[in-house]
Amino acid sequence: MSHKPPLVLKSPQELALMREAGKVAWQALSLMEEAARPGVTLLELDRLAEEFLQSEGMTPSFKDYSPPFNRERAYPAAICASVNEQVVHGIPTDRKLVRGDIVGLDLGVCFRGYHADSARTVEVGRVGKKARRLMHVTFESLQAAIDQCHVGRTMRDISRAIQRTAESGGYSVVRQLTGHGVGKYIHEAPDVPNFVSAGPGPRLVPGMTLAIEPMVNLGHYDVVSEDDGWTVSTADNSLSAHYEHTVAITETGPVVLTGEPEPE
Ligand code: MF3
Ligand code: CO
Repeated sequence: MSHKPPLVLKSPQELALMREAGKVAWQALSLMEEAARPGVTLLELDRLAEEFLQSEGMTPSFKDYSPPFNRERAYPAAICASVNEQVVHGIPTDRKLVRGDIVGLDLGVCFRGYHADSARTVEVGRVGKKARRLMHVTFESLQAAIDQCHVGRTMRDISRAIQRTAESGGYSVVRQLTGHGVGKYIHEAPDVPNFVSAGPGPRLVPGMTLAIEPMVNLGHYDVVSEDDGWTVSTADNSLSAHYEHTVAITETGPVVLTGEPEPE
């Protein structure tokens, strides 16, 4: 965490580049969501995303990146794919998806030196009611956080919105991992916690760009790291869901840089 680049405010020109990256992230996630059928492997989804980025003249931000929380190991793939009780940072393998799985798909896109970071949890075939509701509440917690992204509010307003939404649904929010600033680097200051702790945190100002990413568990909030050095799973093996958008703070309110592109 302490190695994180400082908080960088972005100009409208920089936000425009991040929006271009964000559109491609949205499209790549949608392609993968469509492709995530029973029998498809996680590596096939990874290849699909990487080839799409390449065709758009963009690069995957995660590939070969060593983040502040894992300095020793460069990440080996374009996407993270986290299945069922896996929370985040699942490395794509030849594991085949099966009907009823939920899979968190996470992708960073870099365009002309600017990054956008986004994730969604998708269902494979038809999933059960428990999984569906967990996904829905986690998505709602991200929306509630985005609704707080106005100049003059504080980081705590974002964290509180996520925690309230998730816990009112009967779930717990992961505490060992947070969202983050994003833009010039894939991970920048400030941290964006998904739960409230001491102090209001930084005030939101125009030009801030935040990757807000609630990770919500059906059971306890404790998580563990798997032996591959990356994959994070729930400690109690309960299901987990994850959604992430890159959001710009502007004078006129939140702009979701990784949202669905307007039809041309
Ligand atoms: N969205 C995730 C995060 O911000 C993805 C990180 S994968 C990594 O933590 F390779 F970039 F570390
Ligand atoms: Co992120």
